[in-house]
Amino acid sequence: MSKVWFFVGFVFVSVYVPEFESKVFTKCGLTKELLQNKFDRTLVGNWVCLIESESAKNTSKVIVKANGSKSLGLFQINSKDWCKFGSKGGKCNIKCEDLIDDDICLDSLCAKQIYKEMGFRFWEGWVRNCYGRNIPFPNCPNL
Ligand SMILES: *[C@@H]1O[C@H](CO)[C@@H](O)[C@H](O)[C@H]1NC(C)=O
Ligand SMILES: *[C@@H]1O[C@H](CO)[C@@H](O)[C@H](O)[C@H]1NC(C)=O
Repeated sequence: MSKVWFFVGFVFVSVYVPEFESKVFTKCGLTKELLQNKFDRTLVGNWVCLIESESAKNTSKVIVKANGSKSLGLFQINSKDWCKFGSKGGKCNIKCEDLIDDDICLDSLCAKQIYKEMGFRFWEGWVRNCYGRNIPFPNCPNL
């Protein structure tokens, strides 16, 4: 009996935990994570500025847009064009759910793809707060 309940509990936890895997980065925590995800070092200052502006460094931020689409996660990637809910899809061929967990691996690949196609100008938050500024590499020890 107890084994059954252990199993039920295990299933419950594995199903429901992902909803809570959100994370708010510190500036240097984010910088480190971007370097680990192989962002070009010379552009990391701009990416940090973009992320601060778009999501306040919150990996699970969701904004519902006027047209019903959602902007998701750290990079606020839009669900209509770039991903699909429930299965892989969109121009990045990823599940939208993967853009709001605390693992930024797929977010990063998709953001780099968007950058390659459209540059930083794609992000309103970057245009508003980062465009035209000389943004140095974040001042973080040992990075
Ligand atoms: C991060 O975003 C999620 C989803 O919008 C929100 O529930 C959570 O409170 C945010 N975390 C912080 C620390 O603002
Ligand atoms: C919906 O709005 C978002 C953000 O404004 C935009 O990126 C997206 O392309 C729009 N999608 C459609 C189908 O209009």
